[in-house]
Amino acid sequence: MPERTPLISGNWKMNLNHFEATALLDKLRYLLTKEDTESVDVSVHPPFTDIRTVQTFLESEKVPIAIGAQNCHWEANGAYTGEVSPVFLAKLNVSYVIVGHSERRQLFGDTDVIVQRKVGAVFAHGMTPILCCGETLAEREAGAAHGIVTGQIHAGIDALKPDQVASMVIAYEPIWAIGTGQTASAADAQEACGWIRAKVAEMKGAEAAAAVRIQYGGSVKSSNVAELMGQPDIDGALVGGASLEAEEFARIIQFRLA
Ligand code: PGA
Repeated sequence: MPERTPLISGNWKMNLNHFEATALLDKLRYLLTKEDTESVDVSVHPPFTDIRTVQTFLESEKVPIAIGAQNCHWEANGAYTGEVSPVFLAKLNVSYVIVGHSERRQLFGDTDVIVQRKVGAVFAHGMTPILCCGETLAEREAGAAHGIVTGQIHAGIDALKPDQVASMVIAYEPIWAIGTGQTASAADAQEACGWIRAKVAEMKGAEAAAAVRIQYGGSVKSSNVAELMGQPDIDGALVGGASLEAEEFARIIQFRLA
């Protein structure tokens, strides 16, 4: 089985201006050791208006944290008022782009078709998508979680080649756990990440399934990250609220010490 390096990603959502972003990263770089960033990949996903500042800071201070974005458009350029091109993100050395976050799906109309286009665009411009999926509480209670999650995966990866899938990241984020403080139990999170890996195997083969990194997201904090990361199919975490505080985010990255 290939070794999957854990990926811990901080999704800042619509928080932290570019001054606050620099202050947080300045604290974070002192809290993280060389061993931390050698054994765990770390990305931060600031608002678009912070990215240039974050890039300049991380590169000039040689901080081994990857730059991420929270979304992008699927076209390279054109008459799309208010949208951000994947080409612009690639130019700022963005490595990872979150695609299909449930807040985008629920509040901004990102459908499976749009998600599929965005995943393709992120790959086309040399970046790695973090494809999000997850069910609502009503769907879980109705016993529909498996179908919802595997349906989102189907749409998101159908058009991709197996080696692209092998290199990407999938984030399982049950909607009822996002920002609620209510984390999925490690067993439930593992079960869903297992469904996802099995779906990838069925669609794109065992090699892609063994290599793809699957993150859990939804109220991850330093007190629950170690148990989640101990699960065989969980390779990382997509962290919202707890990534806005340097000490807490550092403790999450240092989950092996917990
Ligand atoms: P949360 O958000 O950690 O604040 O629950 C996770 C996410 O939406 O990615």
